[in-house]
Amino acid sequence: MTAPWDPGCVTFAIDRSHATPITAQITATLRAAIVEGRLRPGTRLPSWLDLAAQLGVARGTVKAAYEALADEFLVFSAGAAGTRVAERRAPRPVEAQQVDIPRPLQDMERGFSLRPLPFQMGVPAQDAFPAKLWARLRTRAVRANAMAPVGPPDPRGEPELRGQIAAQLAITRGICCHPDQIILTSGYKNGLCLTLLALGVQGRTAWVEDPCYPVNRMGLAIGGVKAVPVPVDAKGIRVDMGVRAAPDAALAIVTPGQQAPTGVTLSAERRAALLAWAKREGAWIVEDDYLSELQLGGRAAPALAAQDPAGRVIHIGTFGKTISPSLGLGFVVAPVEIAARFGEVAGYLNPAPNVTTQLALTGFLADGHFLRHLRHMKSLYRERRDALHARLDRRIAVDAFAGLAVIAHLPRGYDDIALVRRAPELGIAPAPLSIWYAKPEDAQPGLVLCVTNLRAPILDKACDALAALIDEGAVRPLPAQAA
Ligand SMILES: Cc1ncc(COP(=O)(O)O)c(C=O)c1O
Repeated sequence: MTAPWDPGCVTFAIDRSHATPITAQITATLRAAIVEGRLRPGTRLPSWLDLAAQLGVARGTVKAAYEALADEFLVFSAGAAGTRVAERRAPRPVEAQQVDIPRPLQDMERGFSLRPLPFQMGVPAQDAFPAKLWARLRTRAVRANAMAPVGPPDPRGEPELRGQIAAQLAITRGICCHPDQIILTSGYKNGLCLTLLALGVQGRTAWVEDPCYPVNRMGLAIGGVKAVPVPVDAKGIRVDMGVRAAPDAALAIVTPGQQAPTGVTLSAERRAALLAWAKREGAWIVEDDYLSELQLGGRAAPALAAQDPAGRVIHIGTFGKTISPSLGLGFVVAPVEIAARFGEVAGYLNPAPNVTTQLALTGFLADGHFLRHLRHMKSLYRERRDALHARLDRRIAVDAFAGLAVIAHLPRGYDDIALVRRAPELGIAPAPLSIWYAKPEDAQPGLVLCVTNLRAPILDKACDALAALIDEGAVRPLPAQAA
């Protein structure tokens, strides 16, 4: 297929005084002629020499313009037959109204990459993030990474970072592990995904706490694992009820340090009972240690993985709460017996995230910033929680301190999901309590009020907005549990 070159189709207007290089001007003129269809597919372009002579420019200038067009697949070199215009498939315009793909996590997140509002869960204090230090560490990491000889990175994560995490875990969580038991992830959800793949538990059953982080129930369903809700009381998960409901479950997902969302710590007897069940049945315990050392009530309880000589606990940690979700980093500590399996899954299906961020985090841990930051966050969050508690007491019944949040139960008949949907209009973003329960009929309506971003200057306004929101729910009781 050929078409003759028609000089009338293309008008070059070379402007030597313009800031745009001459090569780019030639490229742009030819690109426009091709895209607009004035130069048809198969058209042979003039040789570099001919066009250069015609335009009064160097041959290399035309050659560079042709190469740029070839990089964009607009022309191709046909050997002795010269450079020709390529066949183009016109991009099919996608009409916006044809596509309506709902975004994920509709009930859990009000949107993504939005500025956090007061009471919003899952985000640490924005004003206390060590932004300058982090930027410096990242710059250092980018340079180190760019200069380093390039080889495939360890899919389990950078060895130095895994060594640092092992050292920190020994100090803050009492866990004694080898760095090769640690696999870097992009956060809790990724840790759960890696775990489900490594354990190969599709088609089996898992205990989940009731109430629990809703991600667990949905995540298990997506992973083909049946979730069996096990009630939680003031001592944590009712192990006896779990044993009765599903003695042969393949795993149990628990939050022993601070139960999510109630905040209770799993008691010593329940810990022993859970570990005994796992050992007896050959089951696994997935410990979601999302708050790590961030226990506002005092010293954090030891991790369950630190009390597990039989090696049944898979410990999932995250830097999302302790530093920032923007890092997108967490880790799994696998028992020695199955650590190689976790490494294989990371290697084939789930490699560790971005090396540069890992190197920056290595510096943050190695230079002692992490422990200092944790100490600072604990006292800041305690201050903010106490200030909220003192301020709320006047109008809203506070039922529990839970992790980094305060829980305010609402009377039956309130639709906390509908309330929460309206909250951003008032400039706040509490979370509904009811979605943490497995069954709507058992769900207790309420609001989970995260304290991390409640800076003193905004506290009064945020509490007034909250009271107005709750009053609105009282005046216009909403149909209970409307989804
Ligand atoms: C119980 C629990 N686990 C895990 C997470 C999420 O951790 P990440 O920041 O790694 O996504 C959350 C977030 O709110 C949580 O509440």
